[in-house]
Amino acid sequence: MASHPHAAHTLAPLTAQPVSSLSGTISVPGDKSISHRSLILGAVADGRTSVTGLLESDDVMATASAMRALGATIEKQGDAWLVDGVGNGSLLEPTAPLDFGNAGTGSRLTMGLVAPYDFPVTIVGDPSLSSRPMGRVLKPLRECGLQVTPLEGSQGEDMLPLTVQGAPLAIPFTYRVPVASAQVKSALLLAGLNIAGKTTVIEPVMTRDHTEKMLVGFGAELEIETDEDGARHITITGQTDLTAQNVIVPGDPSSASFAIVAGLIVPDSDVTVKNVLLNPTRTGLFDTLVEMGANLTISNRRQSGGEDIGDIRVRTSRLRGVTVPADRAPSMIDEYPVLAVASAFAEGDTHMLGLEELRVKECDRLAVTARGLEANGVDCTEGENELTVRGGGVTGGGTVETHLDHRIAMAFLVMGMAAKNAVHVDDTTMIATSFPEFRDLMTALGAHFEG
Ligand code: S3P
Repeated sequence: MASHPHAAHTLAPLTAQPVSSLSGTISVPGDKSISHRSLILGAVADGRTSVTGLLESDDVMATASAMRALGATIEKQGDAWLVDGVGNGSLLEPTAPLDFGNAGTGSRLTMGLVAPYDFPVTIVGDPSLSSRPMGRVLKPLRECGLQVTPLEGSQGEDMLPLTVQGAPLAIPFTYRVPVASAQVKSALLLAGLNIAGKTTVIEPVMTRDHTEKMLVGFGAELEIETDEDGARHITITGQTDLTAQNVIVPGDPSSASFAIVAGLIVPDSDVTVKNVLLNPTRTGLFDTLVEMGANLTISNRRQSGGEDIGDIRVRTSRLRGVTVPADRAPSMIDEYPVLAVASAFAEGDTHMLGLEELRVKECDRLAVTARGLEANGVDCTEGENELTVRGGGVTGGGTVETHLDHRIAMAFLVMGMAAKNAVHVDDTTMIATSFPEFRDLMTALGAHFEG
């Protein structure tokens, strides 16, 4: 096979102009993590799963295509995405490579899902995904018998494109996840779903728990115990049946973060984001902003589909620098670029610790965030696993290199809304991977972009 099918794309640069205020109420699209999982679990359940509020972004649509290629029928009817599952253990051999584009979650969770199947699955992605480490998932999956073959164009060991092939009889395993990663945990639990016997994933540091919650919701046999050191032992009994569910996907807190930070740093602003997922494994940014002095209130707290949700209102605030402890990183892992932007407008320094995982996101988010700050006149220090941002306002006027990273693009566009001068980003095409409505929703609040 040729290397991955992603040639260099045409860039879509964008400029965010400073604006005098932002105001209004918006709803952001569905949570990306829950959207991927609802399609994946729906694909291996018995019966028809209905998903409302699904995030209709490139990443999630790549997972939908992959689940179709593995045998599920997925179509949209009215507001609902309907997934006709094949049943646990009954996925089909795909006839073409599964192309996950930019999506780490879709690709890694699918590697786990297909690991117990005795057929080859080829997985490809864009240049960003093809430079991300897959060994964190493939190494433990080899323990249950997975064989991995790199394909032409692979830039290193356990990097896409590659083909995986499960063993005729996959073996249950116990694995302690060495990095704080919900993707690794989830991939292994999805493998265990179709391995006879009990597979245990030990998670020393808790990460987002959507996979556990949704597996239970779909009827999987799952036991969770926390040991004396605080590590979670999650045991799944494989080869049981899953039952189709009605899933309601709450608003994505990671997407909401852009409007929330914008509402805090643009003068005279009052912004509300409705129906935001408030699962405590996802709300580290909101806690941090409150510590920084943000006028941030949560109302209408309620439960929906087994998750906490609520409406978040922010008004322009004088923020002050804080230290963000390393143990908070898993609950805000995708929010550091936009926190760095908020910190640039705060009084004093903000120290962010425990950022090693940022190095292996859609780009090296630690370095790329630091370069974006510097390009716009913000003083910062990039440590190996840390970032210190010296606040006090932003000159702007710079161009940010986004390196195929949607969150870098959105974070720095937010910066431009409150800087002295406009901020330019070199490309916005990747925003479609997680938040295609970003530009329209921010414009509705009063943002001004020039493309
Ligand atoms: C995700 C987990 C996180 C996060 C990603 C989505 C998930 O990655 O960065 O955007 O849906 O499980 P890691 O688990 O690799 O930290």
